[in-house]
Amino acid sequence: MSQHPQPKYAIRPIVPEAVYTNRKEHLNYLHQTALNAIERRSMSVVLLGQRRMGKTEIFKRGVNRLFFEQEHHADIHRSVVPVYYSFKDTVSDKWDFSIDYVENFIRWYVAFRLRDLTILSTTDVTQEGVIEFLRNHLDQFKELESALNFYEGFLKKNVTMPEDKALSLPRRVSDWHEATIVMFLDEFQNTRLPQYNFDVVGLMQEAVESPTCPHFVTGSAMSILAKEILGRGSLFGRFESEPIEEMTPYWGTQLALKSATYYHAVTSDTMAPVIAERCGCNPFYITSVVRQSAKLNKPLTDETVLNEILAVDLSSGFIWSELNDQVSRWIARINEYNITKWVL
Ligand SMILES: Nc1ncnc2c1ncn2[C@@H]1O[C@H](COP(=O)(O)OP(=O)(O)OP(=O)(O)O)[C@@H](O)[C@H]1O
Ligand SMILES: [Mg+2]
Repeated sequence: MSQHPQPKYAIRPIVPEAVYTNRKEHLNYLHQTALNAIERRSMSVVLLGQRRMGKTEIFKRGVNRLFFEQEHHADIHRSVVPVYYSFKDTVSDKWDFSIDYVENFIRWYVAFRLRDLTILSTTDVTQEGVIEFLRNHLDQFKELESALNFYEGFLKKNVTMPEDKALSLPRRVSDWHEATIVMFLDEFQNTRLPQYNFDVVGLMQEAVESPTCPHFVTGSAMSILAKEILGRGSLFGRFESEPIEEMTPYWGTQLALKSATYYHAVTSDTMAPVIAERCGCNPFYITSVVRQSAKLNKPLTDETVLNEILAVDLSSGFIWSELNDQVSRWIARINEYNITKWVL
């Protein structure tokens, strides 16, 4: 199938390898939990932490590792198929969502089994291309026959409750064929947007409970994850929780040094721990301060400069845009209840 030289990522992370720092514990945990599913010893997992802690980066790296590091990728009983899906904030209805979810599943499944990334590219392989490929290779992908039928049914809109069928499809495939699949679901908070005027979370109850198909979930708004998954929401009790926190002072310092080298900022061994500390060892804030220093051409050599850069960044830089985004969303959320005026 391959037409191009293949990149080394199934899904490309944003942070360059030269800057990426630690997080090994979380990566190993997800990797091992995914592999344990082959012997039906795993539960679904929620990766829960404050914003900008590096959850998405961990998911993408976890997926890549499972994709490339398993020896028996073609053997349905000895390998686990990683599927990455990010809930969009743009779906318009349940058909859109169902088509997208199942199409994404089929693409990842085929790509992994063949260890060929071509079909993951929606520009190289169109919807028709996916269907045609599967039709011609059904002897090789018997497990995907029902997926193909649903997919075609969704496109023709002649299926009832497509969103239910879509969400439970991966589990049905793995249960029925004794395969193992791990769904990595990011931006889970989007399922609470008004665009999703159907109940993704409620319908996921069954899907996430299969030992053949654990679901790894993360997202941006802790409160939604915590309420739905760890609190009293529909998914309560169906997940193991993996908390993620700020980096340790040691790794925060390493990150300050690495990102300074990468982004051509100047700092020192004595200042790096101070930067890490002032940024609460949040990987995003550390990187932002270092990049701002490079941009302003101000070496991070003492605390006065650090304060200056923090001040600039807080009023206009990388951290500002992040805070602005958080506050805007917060206000938008309050607005839903028409109490903004009252609060402000
Ligand atoms: N291990 C790491 N090493 C270096 N930089 C990191 C690391 N993890 C995160 N970062 C930095 O933090 C930024 C945010 O990472 P990421 O998008 O994975 O966070 P997140 O927890 O998914 O955020 P959100 O809550 O907004 O979804 C990255 O773009 C990068 O600058
Ligand atoms: Mg994220």
